[in-house]
Amino acid sequence: MSINVKEQAARAALSYVEDGMTLGLGSGSTAEIFIELLGLAVDDGLKVRGVPTSKRSEEVALEAGVPLIDVEQVDHIHLTVDGADEVGSEFALIKGGGGCLLREKIIANASDLMICIVDESKLVEVLGAYPLPVEVDQFGFTITAKKIFDALVAAGSEDPQIVQRMKKNGREPFVTDGGNYIFDCACSALPRVRQIASRLSAIPGVVEHGLFIDLARIVIVGTEEGADILEL
Ligand code: A5P
Repeated sequence: MSINVKEQAARAALSYVEDGMTLGLGSGSTAEIFIELLGLAVDDGLKVRGVPTSKRSEEVALEAGVPLIDVEQVDHIHLTVDGADEVGSEFALIKGGGGCLLREKIIANASDLMICIVDESKLVEVLGAYPLPVEVDQFGFTITAKKIFDALVAAGSEDPQIVQRMKKNGREPFVTDGGNYIFDCACSALPRVRQIASRLSAIPGVVEHGLFIDLARIVIVGTEEGADILEL
């Protein structure tokens, strides 16, 4: 997605922000543009507090001048704005391409409203072309990978390919902000997202999976001309 299209989506999301709000700050390149625009609005006098969903978003927010509040001090999150890797029917999402799915889900789930900002390429009929990220505890991760495979097969996925995410150097495992590993699960299609989500959540070593169901209520699709606002 071009920067311009991401910015169109982020700019449209900014119109939902009101003075006094506590905001969940998503992760990923589109959410970062939102944070930067939010910083400009703060410079112009907007009074908000942000709760970042990743160390990277925290850095971007600090640089942009967005006031932050420690997550443990938060009693109410009015709005979370975040990106997604795929948006399917009923706004079921795949998230976690940047490895921040656990914190993103904790904050989205605690928010009055989650707005998802994407470009058109993220809209799909059936989720799953994008490999589903699953965050796992480091202890017993090989056992957990087998259980994830079994769960995906039991939910109807044929021959899922489960790959441990590595750092850019390709030699060391990628470790999330919370100290966990990630498996990227390529299934080509995930037709039964609710069943897959509950099977994955039932595996002891799974910390969280990247299926966000019943969380986003507004999806803003950036286009070259502006932004389309989709509501459930
Ligand atoms: C981060 O873990 C993800 O959930 C991102 O929100 C997602 O990967 C979208 O990122 P982009 O906005 O960079 O496409």
